[in-house]
Amino acid sequence: MVWFNVVTLVVYLFSVCAVKAQSNEDFVQCLFSKFPNITTHLYNKTSSEFRPLYQSMQQNTRWLDDSAAPVFILTPFSESEIQAAVACSQSNGVKLRIKSGGHDYEGLSFRSSTSSPFVIIDMSQLRDVRVDVANEVAWVGAGATIGELYYAIAKESSVHGFPAGTAPSVGVGGQFSGGGFGWLVRKYGLAADNVLDARIVDASGRLLDRGKMGEDLFWAIRGAGGGSFGIITSWKIKLVQVPPIMTTFTKHKLLTENATALLDEWQTIAPKLPNNLVIRILARLQNKNGEKSVKISFNSLFQGAKSDLMSIMNEKFPSLGLMESDCFEMPWANTSLLYWGAKQGNEYPLEDILNRTDRLVGTYKGKSDFVRTPIPTSAFQGIWNLFTEESGLMIFEPFGGKMDEFSETDLPFPYRNGTLYNMQYLVHWQNNDQEQGQRSVEWINKMYKYMTPFVTSNPRGAYVNYRDLDLGMNQPQGKSNYDEAKVWGEKYFGNNFKKLCSLKHRVDPQDFFSYEQSIPPVSSESEQATVMTSKLPPIEAMRAPPTKWYSGWS
Ligand SMILES: Cc1cc2nc3c(=O)[nH]c(=O)nc-3n(C[C@H](O)[C@H](O)[C@H](O)COP(=O)(O)OP(=O)(O)OC[C@H]3O[C@@H](n4cnc5c(N)ncnc54)[C@H](O)[C@@H]3O)c2cc1C
Ligand SMILES: *[C@@H]1O[C@H](CO)[C@@H](O)[C@H](O)[C@H]1NC(C)=O
Ligand SMILES: *[C@@H]1O[C@H](CO)[C@@H](O)[C@H](O)[C@H]1NC(C)=O
Ligand SMILES: *[C@@H]1O[C@H](CO)[C@@H](O)[C@H](O)[C@H]1NC(C)=O
Ligand SMILES: *[C@@H]1O[C@H](CO)[C@@H](O)[C@H](O)[C@H]1NC(C)=O
Ligand SMILES: *[C@@H]1O[C@H](CO)[C@@H](O)[C@H](O)[C@H]1NC(C)=O
Ligand SMILES: *[C@@H]1O[C@H](CO)[C@@H](O)[C@H](O)[C@H]1NC(C)=O
Repeated sequence: MVWFNVVTLVVYLFSVCAVKAQSNEDFVQCLFSKFPNITTHLYNKTSSEFRPLYQSMQQNTRWLDDSAAPVFILTPFSESEIQAAVACSQSNGVKLRIKSGGHDYEGLSFRSSTSSPFVIIDMSQLRDVRVDVANEVAWVGAGATIGELYYAIAKESSVHGFPAGTAPSVGVGGQFSGGGFGWLVRKYGLAADNVLDARIVDASGRLLDRGKMGEDLFWAIRGAGGGSFGIITSWKIKLVQVPPIMTTFTKHKLLTENATALLDEWQTIAPKLPNNLVIRILARLQNKNGEKSVKISFNSLFQGAKSDLMSIMNEKFPSLGLMESDCFEMPWANTSLLYWGAKQGNEYPLEDILNRTDRLVGTYKGKSDFVRTPIPTSAFQGIWNLFTEESGLMIFEPFGGKMDEFSETDLPFPYRNGTLYNMQYLVHWQNNDQEQGQRSVEWINKMYKYMTPFVTSNPRGAYVNYRDLDLGMNQPQGKSNYDEAKVWGEKYFGNNFKKLCSLKHRVDPQDFFSYEQSIPPVSSESEQATVMTSKLPPIEAMRAPPTKWYSGWS
């Protein structure tokens, strides 16, 4: 029944919604004509729910600016409402922003730097998770959070997990679109590597699954960052096996405790450890009784028991001096609590990972780099000097392991084989303190500049999920320009950028899905002929649902 409706709806949309209308009101009328009761899912500024919805899940309070708010927020309850929204905004010149978890560092899921009116498609109602343990797969609605996904898996099995990020409140819609990595990355790769299928509403309002969208588009939506190719409604993922017990430790070292030498050693050890062990680094300023020092935290998760971890550490990294008393065992689900600094797996109730408001909401700026050759020991002193100026944070996440089994072009995420680690710079400040904000931003820029010689270059790498508009952006409203866009595009996607641009030209030549860092449509010379002559495939009935137990979102 659902499937039949989708087909009729799409056909209907294209016959009726072709009527040209001009205003936001016409957009509402257009939607209303498809769904007489859509008003219950559509909010304007007079609605008391508008503001809470607009601000919900904004993890970076830097962008809490009502003047940048949309004209409407739509919270679709079905894929067909999304199809209608695309069709109606196409015919009325209204722009769309897509918001799943709202954790974009630059707020691009809910704000726009242009003055054009826009509508937020808020995916929060499409967040069912359907776990099929027997077949080791799950379908997850794009509006679900990482925590909701992890919780749903853990409810069904104590020996399955999924290799996505560490923070529970992040949305799967945005995160899987840009790659996604966390505690299981060295064993299982990116979240995007473990996506088996997806459902997307494209610029023509068609609902496509993997078979319908084709392998090129399916490649692009797993790493190119969210929102360039369409609206993902759900992902089908491959569950991975985890042992019933995991072990965590955090070992803090001050500079006076030989931290620099240990960090230096870590650079070559961490990416080569057994795949079931991740040791990441958090470096920050410690200000104890007015005495400033840099604190390096070795923060780890091992997929196994404490005793096995101890023998690996004694063999591979004895200088860290890990003791059994530093280690805590817990099931995989509880490891989500570590994100908030929990030492053990029972410091918060597990249900807290379902909380869509993050405990660590704050005002911040982030940047990222990738490292392929160890940073020279002599360079660390300069980093520590900078740390004494502002309270910044650096996070080093080791790759290697499974990540080395992928080439640069397997997915749009290019930092694979031979990449030692990802590095993230963060700086937080009080929301209302403009001066502090300016100093913080200047500080992170200084740090970023200082690091230039020590990180990947030509192009310098960056992770699209740690969105950074300093790298460059598309012209507002203007025609996209490949040479301008490649300045930031190649940082995120390396040699995949060109392919992404020509693919974009094929599937969204009018650049309907455009924003500050969307992939611009560029027809490559060789492709021009095919682009001009080949029409998009006709609208036809969707295939039957991919598996028996999945019956579509209705
Ligand atoms: C506190 C915190 C912790 C993080 N930890 C990790 C981590 O451990 N590992 C990691 O890899 N990353 C991590 N990230 C980065 C995170 O993966 C990205 O910010 C991600 O894009 C957020 O996804 P979202 O759905 O919450 O964001 P949103 O702000 O909703 O979306 C991000 C982008 O994707 C687009 N988009 C959203 N939903 C869809 C959709 N359904 N279809 C198409 N486009 C869509 C948006 O328009 C926007 O451009 C973290 C971020 C934060 C703030
Ligand atoms: C719309 O209204 C009809 C009739 O009242 C109802 O059956 C249906 O469930 C409503 N749909 C939604 C999405 O609220
Ligand atoms: C806002 O929504 C309310 C309730 O749906 C409606 O009555 C009102 O006309 C809308 N206002 C505008 C300016 O669109
Ligand atoms: C500091 O650490 C390095 C590398 O782990 C080690 O070789 C050295 O002996 C340590 N020095 C001290 C004083 O602990
Ligand atoms: C894991 O979480 C559950 C549910 O909150 C809790 O009861 C249990 O004590 C935790 N286990 C460990 C080992 O921390
Ligand atoms: C969710 O977390 C926020 C921030 O820590 C807190 O204020 C709120 O009470 C929590 N909500 C629930 C339902 O636990
Ligand atoms: C990874 O790099 C190594 C060394 O350059 C090379 O031998 C290997 O074939 C590469 N593997 C993949 C999957 O690209």
